[in-house]
Amino acid sequence: MYVNWPDHSETGFGRDVLLAQHNLSMSELFTDEGLAHLLDVYPRESLHIWTFGSEREGVNSSVRGRAPKLSGKEILEAVKRGHLWLNMRRANIDVPELAPIADLIFDTLQDASGRKTRKRDLSVLISSPNVNVNYHLDIPMVSLFQIRGEKTIWTYPREESLAPSDFIEDIIHMKREEDLPYRKTFDERATAFKLKPGMGLTWPQFMPHRVQNANCMNVSLSCEFQTLNSIVKSNAMYTNGLIRGATPLKPALNDNIGPVSVAKAAFARAHKAVAGQVPRTPPTPVTFELDTAEENCVRQLYA
Ligand SMILES: [Fe+2]
Repeated sequence: MYVNWPDHSETGFGRDVLLAQHNLSMSELFTDEGLAHLLDVYPRESLHIWTFGSEREGVNSSVRGRAPKLSGKEILEAVKRGHLWLNMRRANIDVPELAPIADLIFDTLQDASGRKTRKRDLSVLISSPNVNVNYHLDIPMVSLFQIRGEKTIWTYPREESLAPSDFIEDIIHMKREEDLPYRKTFDERATAFKLKPGMGLTWPQFMPHRVQNANCMNVSLSCEFQTLNSIVKSNAMYTNGLIRGATPLKPALNDNIGPVSVAKAAFARAHKAVAGQVPRTPPTPVTFELDTAEENCVRQLYA
């Protein structure tokens, strides 16, 4: 198998969206049988299951579910019929069969960009026809590889009006999920990429984006990682959140790593050591269970 990154990856990394080509869809792990197997061997309690409202203006919230009793084959059936988005996080760690694919993606990106990729985390995303992932941003660096189906991703310039710094700080402090306030007018500033199997991309850290599946089940690989630069920036934003909360100052994101960013990052690490790590459990509770007997495969737990 191969993954090819563009020639300008070294100069464009962290500044531009980079498009890659690959043939990872050839893997037997991504056929229906392969996906059912992955869902069977992946720790079920770690499987994130979401359903979403339709994209509208303002802040959109997502609803979280669970599937303790279904087989991988039944979960796959529910995804094909329902309006679901499944995330097998850290699948390269929990399912060793996926490790060579993760290594191929991250090693080729590392070679092409000239940046060491750390904290490598490959998630398998399996999602229903027509599902959309609301306007949001991710704290780590991300690359997204399309394996099956078709989807459109819109990326937006990383500006204060489109991704307010205080929202990014709140996400880092785990005070909110990654969703951001969205306005239709933002789309005038967006770049749309139609992703088909064989295509992949990576974008600059904190760049807002949203995703819309075509009318087919989608399988994608979301590959999160950190570079030295992205770790410093995340930690500097952590400290900015503390400054904003304790003073009238309004610190902004700074892309240029200099002495101030490094000092802020060092302070963040010291603060985390004293205050304890931010809890990793997201604030959204589980409110539904997958059930193939239901028409949309969703049974509310607290109806
Ligand atoms: Fe994302």
